[in-house]
Amino acid sequence: MHFSILLLVLSTTASAAVVKTGSTCVVTPLGETRVARSIDAIPAGDRDFGESIAELYKSAGAPGALGHYPRPAPSKGSTPPVYVQPSARESTEVSARSAAAAVDDTPQILDAFKQCGTDGTVIFSEGTFNIRQVMNTTALRNCSIEIHGTFVWPADNIQYWLSHSYSVTYAGRSTAWLFGGRDVSMRGFGKALFNGNGQVWIDQNKNAGNQNGRPISLTIWKGTNIFIDGITWRQAQFWHTFVAHSQNVTMTNLDMNTTSHSQYKAVNTDGVDTWNSRDVRIANWTVGCGDDCISVKGNSTNIHVSNITCYSSGGMCVGSMGSNAGQPDYVDNVVFEDVQLYRSSNAAWIKTYPGSGHVRNVTFRNIHFENVNQPIYVTSCIYSYQNCDSSRLAISNVRWENITGTSRYNVAAAIHCSSSAPCTDFSFSGIDIKPMNGGSAKTLCSNIKNQATSGLTCTGPCPGSQPQQLTGNV
Ligand SMILES: *[C@@H]1O[C@H](CO)[C@@H](O)[C@H](O)[C@H]1NC(C)=O
Ligand SMILES: *[C@@H]1O[C@H](CO)[C@@H](O)[C@H](O)[C@H]1NC(C)=O
Ligand SMILES: *[C@@H]1O[C@H](CO)[C@@H](O)[C@H](O)[C@H]1NC(C)=O
Ligand SMILES: *[C@@H]1O[C@H](CO)[C@@H](O)[C@H](O)[C@H]1NC(C)=O
Ligand SMILES: *[C@@H]1O[C@H](CO)[C@@H](O)[C@H](O)[C@H]1NC(C)=O
Ligand SMILES: *[C@@H]1O[C@H](CO)[C@@H](O)[C@H](O)[C@H]1NC(C)=O
Ligand SMILES: *[C@@H]1O[C@H](CO)[C@@H](O)[C@H](O)[C@H]1NC(C)=O
Ligand SMILES: *[C@@H]1O[C@H](CO)[C@@H](O)[C@H](O)[C@H]1NC(C)=O
Ligand SMILES: *[C@@H]1O[C@H](CO)[C@@H](O)[C@H](O)[C@H]1NC(C)=O
Repeated sequence: MHFSILLLVLSTTASAAVVKTGSTCVVTPLGETRVARSIDAIPAGDRDFGESIAELYKSAGAPGALGHYPRPAPSKGSTPPVYVQPSARESTEVSARSAAAAVDDTPQILDAFKQCGTDGTVIFSEGTFNIRQVMNTTALRNCSIEIHGTFVWPADNIQYWLSHSYSVTYAGRSTAWLFGGRDVSMRGFGKALFNGNGQVWIDQNKNAGNQNGRPISLTIWKGTNIFIDGITWRQAQFWHTFVAHSQNVTMTNLDMNTTSHSQYKAVNTDGVDTWNSRDVRIANWTVGCGDDCISVKGNSTNIHVSNITCYSSGGMCVGSMGSNAGQPDYVDNVVFEDVQLYRSSNAAWIKTYPGSGHVRNVTFRNIHFENVNQPIYVTSCIYSYQNCDSSRLAISNVRWENITGTSRYNVAAAIHCSSSAPCTDFSFSGIDIKPMNGGSAKTLCSNIKNQATSGLTCTGPCPGSQPQQLTGNV
């Protein structure tokens, strides 16, 4: 019955922004031209909404985040995602268009979360939402979010982002969107598209990635019971996602691709990093990026990663961590399984600084890859390659099972543990890695305490200076 009320409102307010009915807010993009007529008069195929309002409500079901579980059907619905072809030209055009209109949907988006963010549902209709300001939506409670359209973060206002992005503490990084709360779901049905105009960020970072203020696209921040599903990213500003100070976070059916089309590389465009978080489930992702695909950083516990396909990435990674020797970093209970990797720097690896803390109980299982620079890699002194043997960050109980594929050069595994805290309880089985250009692969190891019983046949020592990526056979 409330549909008719809603339709009335829609048909009488040409630039309807947030329309609230009961505990549900429907948000339509400000930049889209709305025709002031009853939605019923528009043939279904021509409607601004891909689905009728009634359909949107039906998909909302009983409002409330937890009411939406169990898991939604696979996100790749019958409607294919609307890809914004991430060419440099197009990014510029998107920016230019939004500059001309200077349309900013941020106020109405924040308003919708304010009105329906507690015990409610927020529905973003089809169309393009321009997000020109940072968003802090960390006070959500029992809220379902449904996104049917495209979110664009224009990059014609770089100076704004550099000075306004919210700090996420970690390594001085920051974000465009702090997202959290309790019992919150955000579903995109394979239709939601997040476009960060990353090419602009890549070009002005010129192969460096860590410009202060360069924003992470989406940060799950101090969230509990968070469910994110069916969202596509193209050309993210920086890391696609970050999970920090959160627990029980499930992120499924996500599709990310940030690829540079200029002479500059896509650096620091990680798929996800977890930090100071526990009980995180990551499944069914496809990621194309220029950096770590899935990265588990310090103080992450119970992280389960499965069915991930990564292109041109850093693969499955624990770290980097231990950068502050005075502050311990702990990683416990991590599983990476059923992973495919193509053209990656590494596949199943652990990188620590010579710091303190520990990495315990990690499984890399059923990992298959093609053309990976140095597939299995462990270092206690990432990036500096110095003081490796003074690291007190102990790495123990790590399993590599069923790890198969081709290495770019002649190294299958390079493992340098700190002599001050040797690696213990390492176990290898079903390792079959062959150089892509033929010959046999070397396995280099140093300071694995149980080397003799680990199942790994080491062909020589691994120096602390062994780089993360090789430039040729060794
Ligand atoms: C992964 O995708 C498959 C196929 O679409 C689906 O059956 C399965 O439920 C998905 N898993 C999760 C955790 O969403
Ligand atoms: C969650 O919000 C919905 C309304 O959106 C409400 O019906 C439900 O009772 C709420 N659940 C809890 C546990 O408060
Ligand atoms: C974000 O919002 C929360 C809840 O309203 C508030 O406590 C917090 O201070 C805000 N964070 C920032 C960085 O503004
Ligand atoms: C964890 O979050 C999921 C939503 O992703 C929810 O269904 C589940 O009940 C939560 N678990 C606990 C123990 O609260
Ligand atoms: C990512 O996008 C680029 C074009 O921007 C395309 O060439 C590449 O195939 C895409 N990767 C995947 C895995 O779809
Ligand atoms: C793995 O995830 C992909 C999406 O990335 C999905 O198409 C596929 O069905 C999933 N496979 C399984 C076994 O869940
Ligand atoms: C990690 O957790 C430990 C123990 O709770 C804490 O001392 C340390 O500060 C945390 N590290 C970071 C980087 O937050
Ligand atoms: C190791 O991690 C696995 C997977 O997270 C978990 O099931 C198991 O209980 C952990 N073992 C220990 C000793 O904590
Ligand atoms: C090994 O992993 C591959 C995927 O890379 C999988 O198809 C195969 O079933 C796995 N083998 C075992 C014994 O689990």
